[in-house]
Amino acid sequence: MLEIIGVSKSYSHGTVKAVNQVDLAVKNGEIFGFLGPNGAGKTTLIKIITGILNADEGTVKINGQDIRTNPIEAKMQFGFVPDDPNMFTRLTGIEYLNFIADIYLVPRETRQQRMKILLDRFELTNALNDLIQSYSHGMKQKIVIIGALLPNPPVWILDEPMTGLDPRSSFVLKEMMREQADSGQTVFFSTHILDVAEKVCDRIAIINKGKVIFSGTMEEIHEHFKENKSLEKMFLELTENE
Ligand SMILES: Nc1ncnc2c1ncn2[C@@H]1O[C@H](COP(=O)(O)OP(=O)(O)OP(=O)(O)O)[C@@H](O)[C@H]1O
Ligand SMILES: [Mg+2]
Repeated sequence: MLEIIGVSKSYSHGTVKAVNQVDLAVKNGEIFGFLGPNGAGKTTLIKIITGILNADEGTVKINGQDIRTNPIEAKMQFGFVPDDPNMFTRLTGIEYLNFIADIYLVPRETRQQRMKILLDRFELTNALNDLIQSYSHGMKQKIVIIGALLPNPPVWILDEPMTGLDPRSSFVLKEMMREQADSGQTVFFSTHILDVAEKVCDRIAIINKGKVIFSGTMEEIHEHFKENKSLEKMFLELTENE
């Protein structure tokens, strides 16, 4: 599970409050969607959760491990897909995956089994010996996803993971997110694709200008509006009024 307690973060010497007093809890067995307009603070919060940025205030715990005080233990709990897949592009696909597996101490036999399954599912086996810099955007996205899932982490943290994926890979990822949640683990992801959020999420939060303006189940957001509107309509209304 993932606990975010009273987290705030400002940029530019306090002039831009990117994340403002955010409290969220993502339970085991849950797919949690994080929605919000461009510049709302999603990536900033995700960078705080994953320990890339330090919060000005507040606490983040991943399966009970505090990202600030127990960074290594906390990081062993999650796999992370950042919003930009241009990482380690001068490695080949297989070098990159072995590098990740080494860091996460995945035993040789387990890594080979898991690599085979993931590479088959995302249809990337043939590109393994090529440099990542020669990959298409979608292929880079896939190798980063495979790397994040390779250690079989209990918590998945994904920043706009469907970007650039073709329909089949996007379907596979959604299927795997459901399997992960159904096995009692946690998925937290940001997205702009409201159809995906509506279909796959157990709960969502909407953030605008650094503040969470709604958090709850799909039924709760419908109840809130007391009308049978699409998530798109509700999102537009919520983020306009703020
Ligand atoms: N390094 C930085 N320095 C200064 N301001 C920043 C920095 N990174 C982000 N910001 C500001 O913080 C705010 C939140 O940005 P963030 O990247 O978290 O938004 P986001 O919700 O992920 O947006 P998007 O949907 O476009 O990915 C924006 O106002 C942005 O301009
Ligand atoms: Mg972002």
